[in-house]
Amino acid sequence: MLQVHKPYVIGEDANHKFVWLGLDESESEKGILTNQYLVIDGDEAALIDPGGYFVFERVFNNVQNFVEPEKVTKVMYSHQDPDVIGSLNLLLDMFPNASFYVSALWERFIPHLGVSVKDRIVDIPDEGMEINVGKSKVKAIPAHFMHSPGNFHYYDPTLKIYFSGDMGAAVYPEGTWYLIVENFDEHRKYMEPFHRRYIASRKAIDLWQRRISNLEIEVVAPQHGSIFMGENAKKFISWLTSLDKVGLDLW
Ligand SMILES: [Fe+2]
Ligand SMILES: [Fe+2]
Repeated sequence: MLQVHKPYVIGEDANHKFVWLGLDESESEKGILTNQYLVIDGDEAALIDPGGYFVFERVFNNVQNFVEPEKVTKVMYSHQDPDVIGSLNLLLDMFPNASFYVSALWERFIPHLGVSVKDRIVDIPDEGMEINVGKSKVKAIPAHFMHSPGNFHYYDPTLKIYFSGDMGAAVYPEGTWYLIVENFDEHRKYMEPFHRRYIASRKAIDLWQRRISNLEIEVVAPQHGSIFMGENAKKFISWLTSLDKVGLDLW
């Protein structure tokens, strides 16, 4: 049975929270299921990959369970796909204090959504950057060609949570979605076809692996699919880095 799921706090300490923003399983009738996240530090908050047009109402309502829209000062995008940026027109109006962080490669394409974003957009250079959220920092980690040519993941060092964009995406049979991965070996079969096709080449994995090798990661939170905690986060990273051939390697 398709269910509506409430937001879930993935991690928190006294002043800081990392929140998954809920899901309505019937959204799968319109497009692939997507996850959205909210990082809160003190009096300030940031959205990560707030999603497409048709999930906006759910995202906006669920954000308000945690913070007022005026407190959201950053929106961080992993890449340019419609399931990531499709709600931008609405976000601009409903989060009036937010700046939008996006790869410098994609900034010039965004006005085609029909919006003027000039003074509210921040280009992320290829090498990544640190983004302040309250007194904390979130790091934009380069993950180019791990999907899009200009692609960033986001690492929250306060809680050791790693937002992995489309990496970790899983596609389930109707009605079998779950939030937290329990059995990694079972879960892997829902991820494999996506990763074989949507990563450009093995070289992208090697470069990314070097980038993340010094990060302490306790949770992997992807834009589609289920969240990996503890041992399963480690299993996910070692599975992804062990894929021998992907994308162009197979063509
Ligand atoms: Fe994508
Ligand atoms: Fe996606």
